[in-house]
Amino acid sequence: MSAKSPQRQQLRQSIRRARQQLSPLEQQSAAETLVKVVLASPEVQRADSIALYLSNDGELDTLPLIHALWQQGKQVALPVLHLFTAGHLLFQRFSADTPLRPNKYGIAEPVPNIQQLMLLSQLDLICLPLVAFDDAGHRLGMGGGFYDRTLANLANLPTAPQLVGLAHDCQQVNAVPIEAWDVPLPIIATPSRIWRF
Ligand SMILES: Nc1ncnc2c1ncn2[C@@H]1O[C@H](COP(=O)(O)OP(=O)(O)O)[C@@H](O)[C@H]1O
Ligand SMILES: [Mg+2]
Repeated sequence: MSAKSPQRQQLRQSIRRARQQLSPLEQQSAAETLVKVVLASPEVQRADSIALYLSNDGELDTLPLIHALWQQGKQVALPVLHLFTAGHLLFQRFSADTPLRPNKYGIAEPVPNIQQLMLLSQLDLICLPLVAFDDAGHRLGMGGGFYDRTLANLANLPTAPQLVGLAHDCQQVNAVPIEAWDVPLPIIATPSRIWRF
């Protein structure tokens, strides 16, 4: 099966449509409930530095979570498109005064600043966006493969961040048709529960 397999593309399309159709009230309630689910998890309580992402395309709004983590004194990082290695991400410190700009996909990202870079080994936890997930921790993304490439060699690091997928409950499917390169998620959190695989 290729990356652009019709099965994966169809699944992306139907789940993206479902989450885009959530009402502003449903989005707000999902984001607020997720804050409670995530803050209650021991993995997050133990973590000092956490990578998140800024939501788009109907993704669960991560801003309430980011604010809650700041309030707890945690270091938050955001992905930035890699300046030299196409298809990869870098992570950069994110605070209330970090300047943002739209990247080439129109998604806001911190203005690249080498002094604010955080290496993977400096992150305790990375929260990943996803389009679809299943109850085995399989993840389908938007189709760019950015997180798969960036996190492909995580196991070789002496200290590797824990991976946590964040999603609306409506993004759960019976079985994600996975590919060899898809990075699995040991933890997935939705407003209704948290899975550990
Ligand atoms: N570790 C990797 N090394 C090289 N290419 C990769 C890697 N992971 C993913 N890719 C490429 O990225 C593309 C998109 O990956 P895919 O898993 O379909 O996207 P997503 O994870 O965003 O759903 C695929 O064509 C795949 O070949
Ligand atoms: Mg993938």
